[in-house]
Amino acid sequence: MTSSEHDHAGSDQAGSVTFLGLGLMGHALADTLLAAGRPTTVWNRSTDKGADLIGRAARRAGSAGEAITASSLAIVCTAHNNAVRELVQPLAAELRGRTLINLTSGSSSEARGISDWAAGHEIAYLDGAVLAVPDGIGTDEAAIVYSGDKDAFDQHNPVLRRLATPTFLGNAPGLAALHDVAVLGMMWHILNAFLHAAALLQSAGVSATPLTPVLEGGIATTTGWLADYAEQIDAGVFPGDDSTIATHLAAMTHLIDESGAHGVSTDLPLQMKAIADRAVAEGLGQSGHAAMISQFRSPE
Ligand SMILES: NC(=O)c1ccc[n+]([C@@H]2O[C@H](COP(=O)([O-])OP(=O)(O)OC[C@H]3O[C@@H](n4cnc5c(N)ncnc54)[C@H](OP(=O)(O)O)[C@@H]3O)[C@@H](O)[C@H]2O)c1
Repeated sequence: MTSSEHDHAGSDQAGSVTFLGLGLMGHALADTLLAAGRPTTVWNRSTDKGADLIGRAARRAGSAGEAITASSLAIVCTAHNNAVRELVQPLAAELRGRTLINLTSGSSSEARGISDWAAGHEIAYLDGAVLAVPDGIGTDEAAIVYSGDKDAFDQHNPVLRRLATPTFLGNAPGLAALHDVAVLGMMWHILNAFLHAAALLQSAGVSATPLTPVLEGGIATTTGWLADYAEQIDAGVFPGDDSTIATHLAAMTHLIDESGAHGVSTDLPLQMKAIADRAVAEGLGQSGHAAMISQFRSPE
């Protein structure tokens, strides 16, 4: 530890922000605020991380408790919420009257648990989900969604805006975590569909690189339908004006046949067809594609 690292944070400095956890994401968050000129106090379980931040005027606290008392706002970002609980629960006294923002990925039930604990100790709590990679933090591409204490969100908005575009989803603390997995789930489906399409074309000697612009066009077209789908889902009305589920179902069998004929896995298309089959069996064959929302609400 250098002499500057001994500059421990002991008192609450106006406008300062504390970061607990300097892994890839925690480091990017602290780095961004430091670059914006915010007094920043950092703590990490192992002291091998964050030396570059200390060199740029961040203060390294000697303990997590000391880090918390250095600022009115503490942002925690660790590998998982068990680590968050282990870290903050013994420090309830230090956190009392301050704001804790948890940017660790986790489940909505974990978020509710930490939120209940915080409420019992007069700690303002916001749960956040980072929809970005570390390199994107501080850029226009980065988004972080929050749920929980709205007053804390409003009060610390200038800090949150520096990190990423902040969106408040609601007072229920689990909403950010739920949003996180919903977005990730959608992305994994799209990426797996891309891999399936690439495997299909590759079987006919078409390589993935020239195929990509065509598939990007398909994704862009699909993106353009989402707002309309959302309106239909919210209204519960699914006109089959352009094409019906029955029409989609017939095309899905072509995908299954082509996949099988080319030695490509039929797992994804069979799953797609099974969903459409159930919808048709329920009498939705002449409805628009978005009517299949019923199969996701109650898949049995
Ligand atoms: N990286 C991304 O692209 C990304 C994107 C969105 C969300 N996130 C989320 O951000 C969170 C952090 O991810 P990351 O990429 O920064 O992970 P990481 O680089 O592996 O860092 C993990 C951090 O957690 C700390 N930690 C682990 N267990 C701990 C414990 N028991 N007590 C105290 N600290 C503990 C580590 O401390 P040590 O250094 O002492 O091990 C380290 O600071 C995760 O929840 C992740 O899902 C990450």
